[in-house]
Amino acid sequence: MTIPYPNPQPMPVIPAVTPPSGASRPRVTFLGTGYLGATYAICYAELGYEVLGFDVDADKIAKLNAGEVPIHEPGLDELLRRNLAAGRLRFSTDIGETADFGDVHFICVGTPQRADGMGADLSYVEASVTSLAQRLTRKALIVGKSTVPVGTAEWVEQLVGKHTPTDLGVEVAWSPEFLQEGFAVDDVLRPNRIVVGVKSEWANGMLYAAHKGVFDLAATEDREVPLVVTDFATAELVKVAANAFLATKISFINAMAEVCEASGGDVTQLARAIGYDPRIGNRFLQAGLGFGGACLPKDIRAFQARAQELGAGEALRFLHEVDLINLRRRTRVLQLAADLLGRRSGPAGPDLSGTRIAVLGATFKPNTDDVRDAPALAVAALLHKAGADVHVFDPQGVENARRAVPELQYEATITDAVTDTDLVCVLTEWADFRNADPVALGELVAGRRVVDGRNCLDAALWTQAGWEYRGLGRP
Ligand code: UGA
Repeated sequence: MTIPYPNPQPMPVIPAVTPPSGASRPRVTFLGTGYLGATYAICYAELGYEVLGFDVDADKIAKLNAGEVPIHEPGLDELLRRNLAAGRLRFSTDIGETADFGDVHFICVGTPQRADGMGADLSYVEASVTSLAQRLTRKALIVGKSTVPVGTAEWVEQLVGKHTPTDLGVEVAWSPEFLQEGFAVDDVLRPNRIVVGVKSEWANGMLYAAHKGVFDLAATEDREVPLVVTDFATAELVKVAANAFLATKISFINAMAEVCEASGGDVTQLARAIGYDPRIGNRFLQAGLGFGGACLPKDIRAFQARAQELGAGEALRFLHEVDLINLRRRTRVLQLAADLLGRRSGPAGPDLSGTRIAVLGATFKPNTDDVRDAPALAVAALLHKAGADVHVFDPQGVENARRAVPELQYEATITDAVTDTDLVCVLTEWADFRNADPVALGELVAGRRVVDGRNCLDAALWTQAGWEYRGLGRP
């Protein structure tokens, strides 16, 4: 069926539909309680929905049912406990129970980079959809939220067709998410848009009902949340296009940093100056160690792989460059460290043996404990590989970092990390580091040398306190 509602203004008239469970509002489930699914489950309970979160990981489910959020995300703990107590929210490892409970099932499982290439690994999507579909006994809507290669929704629809009797009329839709770690609660409760890819009026109505809490909250706060109703392919592409754009914007300013380094310019002033143009804007224009995390790096790679399969590889070739610019920032920090320490680089890179270096920051950005593809941790590993004795401190990420890169030395405080070091590298812009007192830190170190990998320190203040300071893309 063609989409009855062209994009998107004014707000289309959405058909009212009755949830198959007979409840007045659709009962919603979230399959996969990682960053995405756990946050959504908790926030949708907060919006008043009856929610069940499903995961195959019994540990995670036990923690969530006990009121413990398995990730560090500001504000989420309190919402979890409140909604568990209110009886609107529970978590289960039982897929049959999940199938029985829900009217709308959101697929929130991970789609990591495949071990054998750049494409996305869809095995978790396949497993969760299949096990759910096999246990459905009435009509329901299965909605993909995971970030996927374009074409996945059609494939999921075929999977569902294969595993459910036709007379149940189970349908599929796609609704990408745009939450940022560190701001996840607000991004779910107050999104800047909702995008749905649907094929029928029923799916559109059901999905609208499943998002009505978000629209109602916006109305009470005198805001509007734009709704884009579109087809499957566009809905899938919106997500990867958005992440590709953000990654490109970051690599653009980091490319300018490289040119500044070669020419004596200052990329922080350049970014400020171009960012005043509202067509450019100053957000996501922070030059530094570049992007990491579980999303941008793998999404731009999977996007290129998929475009290649579709015969549109050339259109996304620039994303390869975006990736390379991003990765070059990591070796640039290694180079700056060697320069500051007076070490020369050979063909295998610099030899930093005999030096002691403090790395402040391990997470891929502040206000999270997530170290997946974290530039800070990657640089710490490079410094270690070059022979330095590396001491890492991060306000939230130490436990995860230790699991990911056990060979580094992890410290409990900034003081412990910097004491007696020859060089301090600030690689994640936590407020604790931005606000650290360079005079007090200067008393602890063996040599006052600092690499500001996020251009987040007050260079004048550090220089006045006797530090030799190097930023990225700065003279
Ligand atoms: C990103 C997107 O911003 C979200 O909209 C999207 O929903 C999410 O991926 C996802 O696909 O699930 P997130 O990975 O939480 O969110 O992180 P960002 O805030 O986008 O930051 C990514 C990286 O870029 C971080 O390492 C950060 O330090 C770096 N960055 C960001 C810069 O180097 N410069 C900037 O100006 C901004």
